[in-house]
Amino acid sequence: MFTPLPLSRRQWLISNGATLAGLALTSRLMNFEMAAQMTPERLAATLPVRARLSLNENPFGPSPAALEAMLRNLSAGKAARYPYGEVNELIALIAKKEGVTPDHIVLSVGSGELLETVGVQFGLQKGEAIYASPGYLQLPRAVEALGGRGIPVPVNAQLEHDLDAMAAKIRDRPTVIYIANPNNPTSTVVDPSALATFIKEVSPKALVFLDEAYLDLADNYAGRTLVGLVHADRNLIVARTFSKIYGLAGMRIGYGVTSPKIAAQLRNYGLGSLTGPSITAAVASLRDDGYVAATRAKIVAEKEKLLALLRELGRPYAASQTNFVFFQTGREHAKVAAAMLAESVSIARAFPPMTDWARISIGLPEENALARAALRKIFS
Ligand SMILES: Cc1ncc(COP(=O)(O)O)c(C=O)c1O
Repeated sequence: MFTPLPLSRRQWLISNGATLAGLALTSRLMNFEMAAQMTPERLAATLPVRARLSLNENPFGPSPAALEAMLRNLSAGKAARYPYGEVNELIALIAKKEGVTPDHIVLSVGSGELLETVGVQFGLQKGEAIYASPGYLQLPRAVEALGGRGIPVPVNAQLEHDLDAMAAKIRDRPTVIYIANPNNPTSTVVDPSALATFIKEVSPKALVFLDEAYLDLADNYAGRTLVGLVHADRNLIVARTFSKIYGLAGMRIGYGVTSPKIAAQLRNYGLGSLTGPSITAAVASLRDDGYVAATRAKIVAEKEKLLALLRELGRPYAASQTNFVFFQTGREHAKVAAAMLAESVSIARAFPPMTDWARISIGLPEENALARAALRKIFS
């Protein structure tokens, strides 16, 4: 069977070792780190605006229980101690939620750390990452930065993943197929039964990385999550994050659910070293039963107002299952972004090749009102 993550801990440490300064690989890793810190999104996020709707954050969060837990964790007694007990509690809670045993869970500093760790692995093997275009690039960019190849596959007419076209790209080499469901930036989901069939068919040949970062925001989460496909012999990682529905992007917490074997390999690479406040915030969030449904309802109500305006303005948009909307401006992206910025609203960067489309996140009601007024001014 295809082995997704063949580097041993020793090889991994050697390839990352600071003592190997001067090796081409180390400088590539460093360049990758630098690039990761200076994406257009991150630079744009430093702009002083009244409505930051560029990063798909959730300003309705976090849960008050999570805030309280973080504050409690800031005492001297807690800060001086390693949070090992809390980590085990978090892993046990996540495992229960996902219906697996704790050995299937790997924690991560935001789900981004997991995306990059897996990407780096495939890059080091000169492997390939098959991904949707436009799509979320963190994993494919890591593959490319370390010498592998990214293979973009255009989304279909509904702006959904084209699963058949993606499967057709698999060649006889180490391959990761990255599926964000819902997809970013297009906001669409794929049919769950088609996706399940796809995963069963391709996972003997490639590692499937299923990113469900936004799935709590979709309709019918229970009918759409494919975490149930994770089992001991399948090359599948399902990733989740506390950055979106749980409103904890600043605390950097995410995790993967995968086979115990892949989880053990990933843990060997040393990821997921979370801080005490982050861990306790995640625990409190998961225990706050009504939080997800109530937060989703607030976001969906705000999103409906934006969609109604886009219909009024005659702007086509993708079927959004997320806390953001992707719509056709029919104009050059830079001009639209600048016009929005002039109204103190930041939107996401351009997503080639769809450069006459724009992505805008759902913020607080007053931020969304400002954005709607700006859109009305620009597109009326
Ligand atoms: C599809 C998708 N996956 C993963 C992430 C990474 O988020 P985080 O590292 O905050 O978990 C993002 C961030 O926007 C995203 O859009």
